[in-house]
Amino acid sequence: VSAIAIRPAGEADAAALAMLYNHYIRNTTITFDIEEKSVEERRAWLAGFSTTGRYRCLVAQRGANVIGWASSHRFSERAAYDPSVLTSVYLAPAETGRGLGGILYAALFEALATEDIHRAYALITRPNPVSEALHRRFGFRELGVATEAGRKFGRYWDVAWYEKAL
Ligand SMILES: CC(C)(COP(=O)(O)OP(=O)(O)OC[C@H]1O[C@@H](n2cnc3c(N)ncnc32)[C@H](O)[C@@H]1OP(=O)(O)O)[C@@H](O)C(=O)NCCC(=O)NCCS
Repeated sequence: VSAIAIRPAGEADAAALAMLYNHYIRNTTITFDIEEKSVEERRAWLAGFSTTGRYRCLVAQRGANVIGWASSHRFSERAAYDPSVLTSVYLAPAETGRGLGGILYAALFEALATEDIHRAYALITRPNPVSEALHRRFGFRELGVATEAGRKFGRYWDVAWYEKAL
């Protein structure tokens, strides 16, 4: 197993991130996206992040392979929400269960530590006990559950809202 590098995502990661994300779009309710993303769409998505500021995307890479990412996003277009971000972390299915999600999330929050961010939020479709455990470990607390907030695969799904003070 070669070493894992964590670095800011770049446009060249669009294809790998599309493939990774599309697995979760197709097969799970972890994301409420339903239509698969094209490489071009992921390239445009990646252009929304920077190596400074509130909105970051970090990738984990082993050898030539991108095996996960962690990202921070605008919480709302309304300006008073600017000090709040949404955060998210995804690993390739074969890479889960060995602590890599925590490594990526730690790098993300380290990168954000000097930014003007007051709150981070995570929206976790239930059931996802691994993600809820990871978020609690990172100091998120559960605010409550939005019941049947999304519909995918022909049924409704609950979403747990988590908040972290920075
Ligand atoms: C969620 C994810 C990023 C976590 O990363 P990971 O490296 O797999 O997680 P870890 O191995 O560090 O385990 C996280 C925690 O879940 C716990 N856990 C593992 N399996 C569990 C289970 N079946 N039930 C409850 N907790 C479980 C671990 O003990 C660990 O707890 P701790 O942090 O208190 O020690 C990763 O699994 C993933 O990419 N999953 C698919 C995408 C996803 O769900 N993303 C989050 C969207 S909200």
